[in-house]
Amino acid sequence: MLTTTFALLAALVTISDAALTRRAACPDGNMVSNLACCALFPVLEDIQKNMFADDTCSDAAHTALRVAFHDAIGFSKTQSSFGTGADGSIFIFAEQELSYDANLGIADAFNLEAPFISNHTIGVADFIQFAAAVSLTRCPGVLRPTFMFGRVDAKAPAPDGTVPEPFQDVKTILARMADAGFTPAELVALLASHSIAGADDVDPNLSGLPFDSTPSVFDTQFFVETQLRGTLFPGTGGNQGEVESAVAGVLRLQSDSLLARDSATSCLWQANVNNQAFMASTFQKAFAKMQVVGQNAATLIDCSDVIPEPPVLSASAAKAFFPPGLTLSNVEQACSSTPFPNLPTKSGAPEHVPSIVPDPATAGACQDDGSGCVAKFTKPA
Ligand code: HEM
Repeated sequence: MLTTTFALLAALVTISDAALTRRAACPDGNMVSNLACCALFPVLEDIQKNMFADDTCSDAAHTALRVAFHDAIGFSKTQSSFGTGADGSIFIFAEQELSYDANLGIADAFNLEAPFISNHTIGVADFIQFAAAVSLTRCPGVLRPTFMFGRVDAKAPAPDGTVPEPFQDVKTILARMADAGFTPAELVALLASHSIAGADDVDPNLSGLPFDSTPSVFDTQFFVETQLRGTLFPGTGGNQGEVESAVAGVLRLQSDSLLARDSATSCLWQANVNNQAFMASTFQKAFAKMQVVGQNAATLIDCSDVIPEPPVLSASAAKAFFPPGLTLSNVEQACSSTPFPNLPTKSGAPEHVPSIVPDPATAGACQDDGSGCVAKFTKPA
């Protein structure tokens, strides 16, 4: 009897806790845990309808995700001159930062997002990270990203050299990431983003070259396919930062190839293969950390409840495979402690993965050398 009463009381406490956590009504009727988060709903509605429109984890979503990394990584634990992290500097000082080699192509993000930033009261840094979190919710397989609100916008640009380059060696890349506060495991977790990505500028003659055969699905194919022996280039090859890939139409970055094979990271890389839950949860955590780099987390407000639920990836669709014609014998085993999982080979003839179609809104006055990348970012009253 006593046990039943305790159980009932415990259940009531749990229910009232849940009710207390999430009960404030915004003027537009949305419910939030903190009224400050209400400011995000007009932004959400606008970018969902007009910026991402009918993008189903394609060019606009990829573009919004990449710029969030390039902005955040402008930070160093040891040198204050490297910037204040996820601070919007990449857009606020776009003419300077977008002229850096590593930011080639970020002009697309400026053209896509700048017209929306001035229409809303939230800061530039918050906008970049919010748009990235929302972009992820277009991608099946992602676990709902968190979102912290209230970043302080940059007063100065980040210097050149904070963003890792695809032609750098593993030691250099890991050192840069460590200096910004990320472990090798967190870098590998973040690189799950290359599962929904491609290159416009690595091969100057071809754009929209995907990094795996499923660039609109946040699945583990990227980790499978980067471990396969490279045999071909999507174009003529010979480009800095590019190595041979295993699937026609797919571009492999030299940095991804090296990280997949280096003893410091190869087992971390392989751990993602055919392990959707692991990949999604480690990415969710590392991405949350990336989004607040350099900011005072104590002053930020948790507005995660504003972020929509991403589309579900069914268990069968999440199953990794070897691309048509390829098997375990094509794997370049690098992790010395665990054998690469044997996977089924997708049936059919070897495919030529189509390029990602560019979103017209990524073209505009802002150019790849940083020229024309000016916006006032004045805020509505
Ligand atoms: C070692 C670290 C990294 C290197 C060297 C690297 C390099 C690159 C390069 C060269 C491209 C192609 C750019 C182009 O030609 O258009 C690219 C695309 C991309 N990267 Fe990374 N990246 C790194 C880490 C990250 C991280 C941590 C994220 C996000 C959390 C990210 C997200 C993306 C996305 C989404 C794209 C596709 C952009 C688009 O299609 O518009 N990358 N990356």
